Order: sequence, then structure tokens, then C-alpha cells
Amino acid sequence: MISRKSILCLLGTLLFMAYAVAQNQVSSASMNKVNLDFRLDATGIPQYSVSFDGRPVILASRLGFKLNNNISLDSNFKIIKTQTKSVDETWKPVWGEVSQIRNHYNELTILLEQQTAPKILLNIVFKVFEDGVGFRYEFPLQQGMRYFVVSQELTAFNLTGDHKAFWIPGDFDSNEYEYTTSKISDIDAWKTMLISSGEKKANIPDQYAVQTPLMLKTNDGLYINIHEAALVDYSSMQLHVNKATNSLSAALVPDAVGNKAYMRAPTHTPWRTIILSDKATDILASKMILNLNEPSKITQTDWIKPMKFMGVWWEMQVGSSSWNYTDNLDILSKSGGVIPHNHHGANTANVKRYIDFAANNNIKGLLVEGWNKGWEEWTGDWKENNFDFVTPYPDFDVKDIAAYAKKKGVQMIMHNETGGSATNYERLMDTAFRFMNKFGYNSVKTGYVGKIIPRGEHHDGQWMVDHYIHSIQKAAEYKVMIDIHEPVRPTGLHRTYPNFLACEAGRGNEWNAFSDGNSPEHETIMPFTRLMGGPMDYTPGIFKLRNYAKGVPDRQMHTTLAKQLALYVTMYSPLQMAADLPENYAPHMDAFQFIKDVPVDWDDTKILEAEPGDYVTIARKEKGTSNWFIGAITDENSRSTTIPLNFLDKGKKYVATIYKDADNADWKNNPEAYKIEKFIVDSATNLQLKLAKGGGVAISLALATKDNLNLIAAYR
Ligand code: NOJ
Ligand code: CA
Repeated sequence: MISRKSILCLLGTLLFMAYAVAQNQVSSASMNKVNLDFRLDATGIPQYSVSFDGRPVILASRLGFKLNNNISLDSNFKIIKTQTKSVDETWKPVWGEVSQIRNHYNELTILLEQQTAPKILLNIVFKVFEDGVGFRYEFPLQQGMRYFVVSQELTAFNLTGDHKAFWIPGDFDSNEYEYTTSKISDIDAWKTMLISSGEKKANIPDQYAVQTPLMLKTNDGLYINIHEAALVDYSSMQLHVNKATNSLSAALVPDAVGNKAYMRAPTHTPWRTIILSDKATDILASKMILNLNEPSKITQTDWIKPMKFMGVWWEMQVGSSSWNYTDNLDILSKSGGVIPHNHHGANTANVKRYIDFAANNNIKGLLVEGWNKGWEEWTGDWKENNFDFVTPYPDFDVKDIAAYAKKKGVQMIMHNETGGSATNYERLMDTAFRFMNKFGYNSVKTGYVGKIIPRGEHHDGQWMVDHYIHSIQKAAEYKVMIDIHEPVRPTGLHRTYPNFLACEAGRGNEWNAFSDGNSPEHETIMPFTRLMGGPMDYTPGIFKLRNYAKGVPDRQMHTTLAKQLALYVTMYSPLQMAADLPENYAPHMDAFQFIKDVPVDWDDTKILEAEPGDYVTIARKEKGTSNWFIGAITDENSRSTTIPLNFLDKGKKYVATIYKDADNADWKNNPEAYKIEKFIVDSATNLQLKLAKGGGVAISLALATKDNLNLIAAYR
């Protein structure tokens, strides 16, 4: 006979099984080849997995948080509801690689409630695009929780194997590393020399942490890019690598006391992004990160103008002039002033020389660094009040320079280096921007070299994330465009704040000036990593490639001159510098023509060929014209390739001006040798390109006139 007790027991078991089934139920969303599954496991742990064309990409991986005060949002959840939605819309960026962007996704929202008191509510929103998945956590308004502190985000990315990875270490204060290409199992962040100011154990405490965007390639040719979008009021996400399991987990950059983020419900995290394709070119063409950012908060945008610029800058980088004005602040002349050392770069006559060159050569902007007092003691001593952002050195005549630049039609670009003292900058920001408005500076380059103040904060933590955004908002208030050096790496926020033209947050061309530089493959990896989140002020266009660094005669760039030209196309930015000195351009004005012509704003972009670490070829159509420009770059290997020009308008003839490596060029022995050729081409042309070791090709394509057709040979 069956006892009452055993019936109850059976009933209980059945109920538990029903609960477990409900827990294990899979909710899915998909778009073309990309599929996302969400489930709670038997203990109520939220998990997601991702596949591409039926192939697993992310295996079941956990989601959740640990909060301060021993609150674990990691398990024991119940699904209260799921919601779905589909969106297909098109929007126009203020500037960009293309003039229109399609935002097409299927959304799945899982509303969760924890089963133990105080029954915390947590929603997870997934957006599944044709090219990947974005998801974020939302904390709705709720009784059980208002203010909370994140001590750990548990998001994991369990990979299917020991993929090839293109990585830099998870440094809390710098992204300016060369990329290492290795198996996941060979990742070791401590093998790289520390670049940020500070100490390895404080700045890269985790030997197995890497920065995002992290680019991965599987053995069977799938490309996976992991990053984040819309990083606002939260700390940035690095990835801890568990080599034994090929698993990555979110590692948030801590603040001065070790906390990760301070939140108040209702709120949400940034989006975690997984961009996927079996074609490397699709990764570069992806607009997912932009689509996950909010539309522009700036309504009137006619003052925001992409531009090319020069700088009283490279001369300081290579050591032929300096930012500071004197060698000693404490020894004064009889008249009471400091004694100049007479190699100060930002002097009025020198600035005017650059203004003249820019004005004569269609370069709209001029940056001048070292114009303001403070450069004698600007970094290293962790001193808070270092710059006032308004007092020029005695040999920099602000008014005269402003008038001269205006007369010549050149826009002066302000430089506000903070030396890492963000508190000082916040106090003086209005003063600094008022000064810019007064003297006609419509853009600013800011910088954060050194250890951050508030002391103990990191460049990539929540406090600084908020500070950079504050500086962008302040700049917008004063109608100033901004380019930030040494910030957290970008996450697509230039959609929301289109005055945020570019930033550094990566290893720029400048490393060739003051160090052994960047390897020939560097610029073939950057588009897949650093550039995924937004444009970089990389500063291309160096023409003098050897013997440029004062006192270091054997230093050289790992690039050809033609490759420097190609970078204007392959390294997208609405702000592009012609970084070399006027006197280094002078002997090569035929090649400089490409820099004059190449635009910084585009109607269309075709990623023609790409392989991280090896090569990138991109064609772009100038905004508002029928001109196209092509850039092709290679790594340390020479390369031959054929580029069909089938993107050109059918039936139209174009003049192609080809700036290519000379036959005997290569980055090491003959970097400055180039050849310029002109041909008539059309959409049926197949261009044969040959790139030298460390080389490149830059091509401009303009509609042919009758005269052109008579004078220039057709391409064969
Ligand atoms: C580092 C920046 O990247 C560089 O462009 C600038 O010249 C120096 N800091 C000084 O601000
Ligand atoms: Ca390579």
C-alpha cells in the first residue's frame, strides 16, 4: 500500500521536476546564422550560449553579479516573464564610415526574480543581430534594492577551444601595447613590459587578464570579437582567462578601494558584445557597437566638422624641440623671469610656419602642444595643481596667433594635457573652454599621462569613465570637438556624442618617435581590436622614416611611405593628422597630394580584404562626391593582390592615382621609395597591387574629364 507520506513525497518530486524543467526551458532569439539561447539551470543560475550557423561559439556561460554586503546575484533565480521584440530601422550618423546605418535585431528580455529575500529583480536583455549578440543587465526599480555596489560581474564567455587570440594585457591604466598573437593557453599578461606609470602589481594585478576588444579566430575559421558598447557610469570590462577551460570572465577595473561600480536602481550595465562571422571583413564592417549606443544627445550638430590637422608636435616627440620653456623654474633672470632654454617648440614664429604650410595645403586644423605654463613639472610627481589651461608661455602670443590663423583660414586646436590630474581639470574645465571660445579654438585634444588623481583611481575605472564623458559633455556645451588621449578605450559613444571625434587609447604612431616603435603588423591588428569601439587619433603620415629621432640615429619606422598614406583609409577617423614636419613633407609634395585629397568623412565603405595580423584593404566613397579612395596595407611580408573596382558606378570612367611602393622598396632598407601612377579605370577594372614588405598602396579615384581621357592611358 502506498502511504500518504510517499504520495506527498512523489508529488514533491514531480513538482520539483516540473520546476527543474521550467528552469531548464530554453528561450531563444536568432537572426540569420546567429542564435542565442538562455536558460536557468536546475539551481537557478542564469546561462546563455551562442552559435553561428549551427556551430557552437559560446558554450553555456554564466551571468550574474556579486555585490557588496555578501549579496550574490548568481543563482536561485526564477523567470517571471520573457519578452521579445524585433527592430529594423535605419539611422544617419552625423559623420562616419557610411552615411546610413541599419539597426536590425531581435530582442529577448528575461525578467528574473531571486527566490530568497529580498527577492531582487534582475532583467537580462539580449539583442541578436546578423553579426552577433549584445546583452546587458538591467536593475529595475524595486523595493528590495536601491543603492548597491558591484564587487564582481560574473559574466563568462566559455569558448569552444584554444583559439588564436590577438591580445594586449589587462592594464588598468594603459592600452598602449603591441598586440601579441598567441593561443589562448599562451596568454600571459606579465610577459609584456609595463607601459602605464605605476607598478605591475597594481596596474596589471592579474597575470591572465587581457583588454577588450579581444579578437579571436577559431581553428575552423570563425572570427569572434568580444568587447562592450555604451560604457557609461560603470567600470570597463577586461577579461580574465581561464586557460584550463578556454573560458573568459568579466574582470571589472576597480576603484581606489577595490569596488567595481556604484549603482542605483533603476539602472543598467553597458552592453557586452560578441561580434561573429566566418569572414574577417564582416567584423570590420560591423555596426553593432554603434547600434547599441544611444542616438545623439546633441541636436544641433552643424558645428561638428571632421577634419585633417597638423601639429607643432612631432618635433617634440622626436626630441628636436620641447614642450617646456625653461630647464629651471627656480633660477630667475635679473628681470625676474625664468630663463628660456631656446628650444621651445610652441613659439609664435614656429606656429606661424605651420599655419602657412597648413593653409597652403588644404589642412584645416593646427594643434600646438606646450603652449601653456606647467610643462616643466607636469607628470611623475602626482601633483594635483599642475596646469591652469589658460596661461601661455611668454613666447606664445595667443592673440596674434589667433588672428593669423583666422586670416589664413586655419582652425587652431587647443591642447589640454592634465598629467592625469582629473580633479584639477574638472575644477578648471569651464575656464579652459571659455578660453577656447574667446580665442576661436573649436576643438581640443586632452590628455591623461601619468597616475590619476583622485589618487588610487585608474584610467579605466568608473570614476574616470564618468570624467571623460563629463569632459565630452562640457566640450559640447561650449561647441568644442574633443580628442582624448590616454582615456579608457572607446565603446561607440561617438554616436551619442558626435563632438567626441576620436581618442587615443591605443598604441599610436608616436611610439615610433620615442621607442623602438610598432611592428609592421600592428596596423593590420588595430582595426580588429582598438578601432572596433571607435576612431583613433593614430597620427599617420610620417614621411621621414629613418634618422628622425634626435640622438638615436638608427631608429626607424617599420613602414614604407606608401603605407603611411594607405593608413588614412585603413585606420578610420574623422580626425586625421598629417603628423610629420613641414620640412619632411617638402621633398615629397607629390606624395603629400594624397593627404591633401583624402577626405575624413564618408558616404560608403567596402572592406575588400582583411586578415588580422596580415593585411587590410578598404575602399571608401567620399561624403557628397563621387570620389573613391582605397588603402591597402600589409605586415612584414610583401603581398600581391587583385582588387576588382566593381564598386565604381557602372559606365563611368575614373582617373586612378596610385601611390605605391617602388619596386625596390621595403620598410627596412628602402622605406621612402614610392611611385605614383595614373590610369583611366572603370568598374570592370581589376587592379593588380604589389605591396612591399611593411608596405602599402593608396589610391584616389575621381571621375575622369574629357581631357583626362585623352591624356591618361587606360589601365591594362
Ligand atoms: C601623450 C600623447 O599621446 C601625445 O600625443 C602628447 O604629445 C603627449 N602625451 C603630451 O601631452
Ligand atoms: Ca602576420
